[in-house]
Amino acid sequence: MSTQSQSHAIRVVVLPGDGIGPEVIASAVSVLERAASTRHLPLELTERPIAGAAIEAEGRPLPEATLQLCREADAVLFGAAGAPRWDHLRGDARPGAAIHGLRQRLGLSINLRPVRAFPALSGCGPLRPEVTRGTDFIVVRELSAGAYYGAHGRSGEGDSERAHDTITYSRQQIARVVGFAFELARGRSRHLTSVDKANALWSGRLWRDVTSELAADNPDVALDHQLIDSFALRMLQQPSGLDVVVAENLFGDILSDEAAAISGSLGLMASASLNPDGGPALYEPIHGTAPDIAGRGIANPVGSILSVALFFEHSLRLPEVAAEIRTAVDAALDAGARTPDLGGTSSTGEMTAAVLDAMSQAPPAWRGEASPSEGSGVPVGPLPDGEARA
Ligand code: NAI
Ligand code: MG
Repeated sequence: MSTQSQSHAIRVVVLPGDGIGPEVIASAVSVLERAASTRHLPLELTERPIAGAAIEAEGRPLPEATLQLCREADAVLFGAAGAPRWDHLRGDARPGAAIHGLRQRLGLSINLRPVRAFPALSGCGPLRPEVTRGTDFIVVRELSAGAYYGAHGRSGEGDSERAHDTITYSRQQIARVVGFAFELARGRSRHLTSVDKANALWSGRLWRDVTSELAADNPDVALDHQLIDSFALRMLQQPSGLDVVVAENLFGDILSDEAAAISGSLGLMASASLNPDGGPALYEPIHGTAPDIAGRGIANPVGSILSVALFFEHSLRLPEVAAEIRTAVDAALDAGARTPDLGGTSSTGEMTAAVLDAMSQAPPAWRGEASPSEGSGVPVGPLPDGEARA
């Protein structure tokens, strides 16, 4: 992976999208602005409609000018796409085509989804505290191939109507994401769990073959192969034993939503989508537009706020700022701030204010008065392989 050094304002394209997207992204932006201003980092934010909002404003979910803006940016902050009112649309006209198009056109083949048991939320979710305690792992989801991008089709009528989606993986696509996961594990506890369905799917067999071959080049990382069905259960039974989990696109999507049960709510879960060859990365909460609570000001903003932490860690290589944001989230939760999904009564705004408050009360050492690089700019680009951490 290449690293680059540029000196300019940090350009972030902000794409709130639909449903609760704008509500949680407003929170993320306020945390982003606070963290950048404390460190005197010049920030240039450009907001654009995306998905359903862009269908209404510009007639298509991913306008070409917005895509171009993202290409020229240092990073993209994305909310969520879709709502029942656009469910009748098909193919590239769907709101969801915006996020799939962005991932594809920005070459975002690696999706990092950290899973943590927040100490303050112990017992808040459906799992017993003694099961979740100490859990801190990361799902690496392949993001560029599989069922989302294979051949799709729907044909026939009535009882003979049928549809198909095709899972296709090349050796190179598997090696790219599994190689990344090995590096990530090397910087953590050196334990990689690869999840597949090698007993039933041909693509799963290739996944396992390529992963086993890569294990020979990574003898310092312990590799464990797991079948998706039994692993989906094991992940909830013994989550604290996991370090890095790598899976193909669909399995990674499902497993990471399921893993929200370990943290306590889907609204807590963050993600980073990276292009291993460099270029802008995309940061988004893993949840969708939550039409059931949209517009009520009660969405949990923590997943979006923690996505900003991932931005500081991976795009700006400022892990200390990421740590400051995570510590502030923990402090806000410790102080009792809870949106309704966590059993509390805080609004999105109150939860955000609690995080901002904790950031301003951080000890001076954390607030880092100096810019981390010379001049007004900061190094921009994903971490080199060896430094990847989350
Ligand atoms: P969802 O993630 O929007 O909601 C699932 C459940 O979690 C709902 O009960 C919701 O209220 C709750 N939830 C989600 N985020 C929350 C938050 N921040 N705070 C509090 N509660 C939260 O998934 P669902 O219902 O399956 O899909 C709804 C729409 O979102 C669909 O149109 C779907 O296509 C879209 N979607 C978009 C995604 C994206 O843009 N990346 C990802 C997943 C779904
Ligand atoms: Mg999902």
